[in-house]
Amino acid sequence: MGASRNRLIALGLVLSVASKAVAGVLPDQAGSQGTKGNQGKEPLNPGFETGNLQGWQVVSGDAFGNKSVTDTASYWGGPFHQDQKYFIWGITQAGEAAVGELKSSSFRARSVMSFLVGGGYDPVKLYVGLVRDSDNQLLLKQTGTNDEALIRITWDTSKWAGQLVHVVIHDSSTSESWGHINFDDLRVGPHALSDGDGLTFQVIGQANQPAHNPAACSLYAADPLRPQYHYTPYQGWINDPSGLVQWKGRHHLFSQFYPDAPMWGPMHWSHVASTDAVHWREQPVALSPPSTNMPGDQSGRFTGSAMVRGSELDLVFTDFTDAATHPGAIQQSVAAASSSDGINFTLYPRNPVIPGPAPSFPIDFRDPKVFYDKTDNSWKLVIGATNGTQGQVQLYRSTDGGPYSWSHVGVLHTGDGTTGSPWECPNLLPLGDKWVLFYGGNSLAWYETGTYNGSVFTSEKRGLVDAGPASYAMQWYKDESGRDLAISWMGNWPTSKWPTRVNGWAGQQSITRELFLREDGGLGSRPIAELDSLASGPAKNLGRLQVGEHTRRIGDGNTARVKLTVNLGETSASAFTLAVFESRAESTLVSYDVGSRTLALDTTNGGYGQAGKWEAVLAKPHNGKLTLDIFLDRGILEVFAGDGTVMSATVWPRYKQSTGISLVGRNGTVAVGAASVIPLGSSWC
Ligand SMILES: *[C@@H]1O[C@H](CO)[C@@H](O)[C@H](O)[C@H]1NC(C)=O
Ligand SMILES: *[C@@H]1O[C@H](CO)[C@@H](O)[C@H](O)[C@H]1NC(C)=O
Ligand SMILES: *[C@@H]1O[C@H](CO)[C@@H](O)[C@H](O)[C@H]1NC(C)=O
Ligand SMILES: *[C@@H]1O[C@H](CO)[C@@H](O)[C@H](O)[C@H]1NC(C)=O
Ligand SMILES: *[C@@H]1O[C@H](CO)[C@@H](O)[C@H](O)[C@H]1NC(C)=O
Repeated sequence: MGASRNRLIALGLVLSVASKAVAGVLPDQAGSQGTKGNQGKEPLNPGFETGNLQGWQVVSGDAFGNKSVTDTASYWGGPFHQDQKYFIWGITQAGEAAVGELKSSSFRARSVMSFLVGGGYDPVKLYVGLVRDSDNQLLLKQTGTNDEALIRITWDTSKWAGQLVHVVIHDSSTSESWGHINFDDLRVGPHALSDGDGLTFQVIGQANQPAHNPAACSLYAADPLRPQYHYTPYQGWINDPSGLVQWKGRHHLFSQFYPDAPMWGPMHWSHVASTDAVHWREQPVALSPPSTNMPGDQSGRFTGSAMVRGSELDLVFTDFTDAATHPGAIQQSVAAASSSDGINFTLYPRNPVIPGPAPSFPIDFRDPKVFYDKTDNSWKLVIGATNGTQGQVQLYRSTDGGPYSWSHVGVLHTGDGTTGSPWECPNLLPLGDKWVLFYGGNSLAWYETGTYNGSVFTSEKRGLVDAGPASYAMQWYKDESGRDLAISWMGNWPTSKWPTRVNGWAGQQSITRELFLREDGGLGSRPIAELDSLASGPAKNLGRLQVGEHTRRIGDGNTARVKLTVNLGETSASAFTLAVFESRAESTLVSYDVGSRTLALDTTNGGYGQAGKWEAVLAKPHNGKLTLDIFLDRGILEVFAGDGTVMSATVWPRYKQSTGISLVGRNGTVAVGAASVIPLGSSWC
C-alpha cells in the first residue's frame, strides 16, 4: 500500500506542473507552433487504418501482432469509440494474459499530442508511454480505465517540442482480468486538439490532473470531467454515502473510499462537512482499514450510518474481514466508532457490537442503518441480508440506548424474488402516513412503501428510487429541522463507466435531495432549497414561448440548472425533447411523450459515459403543468420531475463545445410556460 501511495504523490507533483497549461493555454500554444513543427517526422500509420501494424514494431512479447488490429465497433458495454475503422484491441492477438510491447515509428514532438486509450487500469504494467529517442527516457505515461471503450488523452509536450520521440504501448500484465490495453489514433500537433469543424476535445489524462490544494476555492476547475458541486474525491475511489447526519448544525457526508487508486479497494471512510448540505469542506479520513501485513488483504470498513447520542457522534458500520487472507473469520460483523468533535473517530475497543448474522442466517449481512423508532421509543437498526434465495432486511434493537449492544428483533421484510438477493444498504423511515423501506438489490435501488408495527414491515407499493442508471446505495437522514434528506452514490456496478479514472478519481455523490411521499403513495425526491445558493450569475429567463419542430436553443452551460414548465393543455406536439450537453457531435436527450406521460432519458450519443435509454411514466400533472428541474454538472445530470420522479446519469461529454441546451417539439408546438437556465458555481467556494 505504501508503494502505491508514493506513486500517487509522485504523479501529483508531475501533474501540477502540467496543470497550468490545461486551463486553455494549450490550444493557442499548439496553434502558434502549427507550421514551425511541421517539417518534422510524423508517426507512420497512426490510426492503424492499413488494417495491420505496418509502421509499428513489436519490441517484445506476443501480446501485440497484426491480429491486434481490429475493426470491431462495439463490445458488451457499448461502442469502442475508435477513430475511423481500425484500432488496437489488446486481447485479439494472444488473449488477456499475454505480455509485450509495441513501438511507433520515430516522430518529432510538437507542443501537444493526443491519442485514444482503453483497456486495463494498471499504471505500472499497462500504459501508453512517450519515450525520447536519444536517451530512451520515459517522459509521460497513461494507463486505461478497466473499460474497453477508448478515451482521448491529451499531452502537453511543449518541453520536448522538436525532439525525436516515439510511443510505446506497454503490457507487462499477466492478469486474466483487464490484463490488456487498447490504443488508437495518435495525433501530433494542433490536429491533436480538435476533430475539425470547430469541435475541440476535452483535455484529460493523468498528466493533466490539477494539484491538490484544499484551501483553493477553485479546486477542480481545471479538470473538465470534474463535477463542480457534486462531491468527488480528489484522488481515488468512492462509493456508498455513509454516516449521513446533521450534528451540532453541520451536515456530515462520509463515503466508502479507497485513496490509492480510482478503483474499489480496502475501504476507508472519506469525510466532508457542510453548514447547508451543499457547500462541502474536506475533513480528515474518518475510518481506515485495520493494519495488515498480508498482501492483497481487502479487509476494511464498509457502509454504515451515524447515531447522535448526547454530545457524542457515533458511527455504526460493517466491519469486513477478508476471508481469503483471514481463513475462518466471520466476514461481516457490525462495529462502532465514536467522536466528541465530529472529526476524530475512535473505534470501540470491544468491537464487534454485533458479531455476525443471527444463527442459521447466511453470511451476507451488511450496511447497518440506525434510526430512532418512535413506535416503541428505541434505537433500532436495519441491515441488509438474504435468506439464501431472497433479499431480506434484519431488524435489531439497541439494549443500551447507544451503539454498543444490540438484540435481534427478527426479519423485518423478505423479498418476493423480483428485487434480487442479497439486499444491501437498507433504510427504514416514516414518511407522511406510511413507512418507507428502500434498499439495493439486483444492482438497482428499490423502495417499498407500506406499514410497520415495530418489528415487521408490510409492503403495499414498490418502485425504483431513481429511474436513471446512476443511482445506488442511497442513504436517508433527518436533519435538525425535521426534513427527510438523502444522498445517493451516482454509480452502479453493471451500468457504470468510470472514464474519470484517466484523471485519477472515480465516483460522485448526488446532490442532497428531500424525500416525500408522492400522491400515488410512491417515494418522491426533490432538490433541497439550499441548492439555490449555487447560482453563480443571473438566470436566463425565457418566459412563455411556443417551440415547434425547429430546434430552439434556450441556453448554454455545462454547470447549470434548467427549470422548465410546459403547459400541456396548450401543447399540440405529441412529444418534446430537451437536449443538454449538446454539440454537433453529441448530446443527451430528455424527452416527454404527452400521450403516454413517459419521461425518457437517452445517453446513447452523450459522451464517454453510460450509453442507453431509460424511461419512467410520470403522474398526471396538476393543472396540466409539467415541470422539470435539471442539474447539469460537467459530465453528470440529475433530472427531477414535478411528481417526484428522479433520473440520474453520468455522461462525460467528449467535446468542450458540448454545452448547448435546446428544445424541440414533435408534430406540433410545445407551450413553454416558463424556462430558465441558471449558471451554477462550485460547492467548494
Ligand atoms: C503484419 O503484416 C504485414 C503485411 O503482411 C507484414 O509485413 C508484417 O511483418 C506483419 N507484422 C507483424 C508484427 O506480424
Ligand atoms: C483522537 O481521539 C483519541 C481518543 O479520544 C485521542 O487519543 C487522540 O489523541 C485524538 N486524536 C486527535 C488527532 O485529536
Ligand atoms: C426465503 O424466503 C422466501 C419468501 O418468504 C421463501 O419462499 C423461501 O423458501 C425462503 N428461502 C429459504 C432458503 O429459506
Ligand atoms: C407485527 O406484525 C407481525 C406480522 O403480522 C406480527 O407477527 C407481530 O406480532 C406484530 N408485532 C407487533 C409488535 O404488533
Ligand atoms: C410525426 O412527425 C413525423 C416526422 O417528424 C412523422 O413521421 C410522423 O408520422 C408524425 N406522427 C404523427 C402522429 O403525426
